[in-house]
Amino acid sequence: MVKKIVIASHNKGKVQEIHRIFSAAIGQVEILTLDDFPEISEIEETGESFEENALLKAATVFKLTNIPALADDSGLVIDHLGGAPGIYSARYSGEGDLGNIKKVLDQLDSVARQDRSARFVAVAVYIDESGPLFARGELEGEITLEPRGENGFGYDPIFQPVNYSQTLAELDPTIKDQISHRGVSLNQLAPALAVRLGQK
Ligand code: IMP
Repeated sequence: MVKKIVIASHNKGKVQEIHRIFSAAIGQVEILTLDDFPEISEIEETGESFEENALLKAATVFKLTNIPALADDSGLVIDHLGGAPGIYSARYSGEGDLGNIKKVLDQLDSVARQDRSARFVAVAVYIDESGPLFARGELEGEITLEPRGENGFGYDPIFQPVNYSQTLAELDPTIKDQISHRGVSLNQLAPALAVRLGQK
């Protein structure tokens, strides 16, 4: 019987990446998302860290569905802004991805390239009846002067990883998966998760 997991998210960009990374890293699993459970209302992210919020989302969804759950809590940490937007990345401007990008670019207006360092952070939590598994991934880079590229989601058009001349939105999605905070955290989680799912 094919095992099921629920991704504790409605974010299409994030879910698509988790799907791609997991289909390469673990065997056959049926992946559901919160779109399959319209009766579950929005889970408030009241934690003070990526770890707390990821655990909160995974544990809530596992409790409500009784299906093993996977949550990714992620965000952009900008040094010049004292770590903002951090855990508030999704709701930074209150006006979606384009508003968030504009807010960051406005806040970094006239800040020189060497002071535009940032990193993406992702914490993945998988939870089932045996308890939670955690993994963390980070990707270092800098905030560009203007948005470039059409791929990906969120802040991808303004984030240029260290050692690359393109933004994440200009890079091929398979390259993003190999280097990204999400790729690192999920690939780190995959072996223990495969054991939990009885695949190894
Ligand atoms: P969460 O759903 O609270 O984890 O929010 C994550 C937010 O961080 C997203 O909505 C994006 O704004 C941002 N973010 C996280 N990962 C990425 C990424 O890989 N690319 C671009 N933005 C990201």
